[in-house]
Amino acid sequence: MSFPKEFLWGGATAANQCEGAYQEDDRGLANVDTIPYGEDRFPVMLGLKKMLECDTEHFYPSHDAIDFYHRYQEDIKLFAEMNMKCYRFSIAWTRIFPNGDDETPNEKGLDFYEAVVDECLKYGIEPLITICHFDAPIALIKKYGGWKDRHMIDAFMKLCHALFTRLNGKVKYWLTFNEINMLLHLPFMGAGIYFEEGEDKNQVLYTAAHHELVASAKAVKLAHEMMPNAMVGCMLAAGQFYPYSCHPQDVYKGMERDRDNYFFIDVQARGEYPVWAIKRMEKLGVNIDITSEDTKLLQEGTVDFISFSYYASRCVSADPEINKQNAKGNAVFSAVKNPYLKASEWGWQIDPLGLRITCNTLYDRYQKPLFIVENGLGANDTVEEDGIHDTYRIDYMREHIKAMDAVINEDGLPLLGCTFWGIIDLISASTGEIKKRYGTIYVDKQVDGSGNLERKKKDSFVWYQKVIESNGTIL
Ligand code: BG6
Repeated sequence: MSFPKEFLWGGATAANQCEGAYQEDDRGLANVDTIPYGEDRFPVMLGLKKMLECDTEHFYPSHDAIDFYHRYQEDIKLFAEMNMKCYRFSIAWTRIFPNGDDETPNEKGLDFYEAVVDECLKYGIEPLITICHFDAPIALIKKYGGWKDRHMIDAFMKLCHALFTRLNGKVKYWLTFNEINMLLHLPFMGAGIYFEEGEDKNQVLYTAAHHELVASAKAVKLAHEMMPNAMVGCMLAAGQFYPYSCHPQDVYKGMERDRDNYFFIDVQARGEYPVWAIKRMEKLGVNIDITSEDTKLLQEGTVDFISFSYYASRCVSADPEINKQNAKGNAVFSAVKNPYLKASEWGWQIDPLGLRITCNTLYDRYQKPLFIVENGLGANDTVEEDGIHDTYRIDYMREHIKAMDAVINEDGLPLLGCTFWGIIDLISASTGEIKKRYGTIYVDKQVDGSGNLERKKKDSFVWYQKVIESNGTIL
């Protein structure tokens, strides 16, 4: 095992899943705040049920989350103790622009993120900022219908300008949109989109996608202009689709499903729509208003590196009967159960070699440096008298680190780093609660909202600390 000495070993979180304090210091309401826990969660995330306010009938664990907003110093101190070299976190858009298009930014929001950055720098931890991790201001959703409308681009650019101005010289690594392809799968969570009756879904989704792609390109361009040393990446919810069999129809289906996701990265990395995507949109009767300025911007704003989340591979068949055997838990990326793989308690199929395959596919396609910005195991941990013995998580991380080693040393690919997801327990995006924990740091917070928020080191904390200390040689 040998990793480059500058390899960025780290951990990742997202604002709406860890900060809490959802109304403090003039923070405005966002889509991520109105998605409740419970049976309405999926219909709301899918944009099928409109919920633009919070109510007393529903429970919203993310409103308090793990209170990172008040405990960031304690948490970053633990990250430093774990030897983390990089911390990926996101910005709550409405802390900076409570209504999305306010005249001036909210200084209290900027102060908070600058303080988080300074705290990282104090310990020599490289900050990696996701500008938008699923957040969209509710005020803009009410006014424009979220990313359906081109006005969102200007609002997003205001956010970028405020962040680049305040954090210039302190932050090198930036990501524009977290899991940008989530827009097609969970439109309200991914892009603040809900569907009006009779609306053509494909038209809405691809229009919104175009707006995000232009916004992303503009953000890359602005970052390069304002911060010449900045490295800006795209971010894909990755995981190769395997054909269920070698039947050509299954292979074709796998390619099609992969393309749903590569659609975004093809544009962000290459600067133009691939021909197949234009044909696909024509076939769907989708008509996008792509201006000549948009075309130019897409070319000028290509990303410096490809970042992605990888938890599992996916499997698909062309046979509807086989496809019905859904892998439990894969509600977002519906996939067939792969008979060769074990799965997590939530049905996510564990496949370290799939990480190596995904890295190689992405590099073959784009030839840009790669960055794994999410990976990890969601599990229901038990606190025992003598600690939290999450050997299953250590096993998962170890096997995926071995795959990274192969990617670097056997395949020769440029891999910048890996920030493990939910390095400190936080609220799950899909389930909306905290039972599904990813952390190496346990947080005393329970599904019913109880708990004293105390932080405890799991066995995986001590293990990961040594992994980083030895630069991946002791696993
Ligand atoms: C990614 C998201 O989809 O996966 C995170 O970027 C999310 O926000 C993570 O939390 C894990 O998914 P989940 O549903 O287990 O929280």
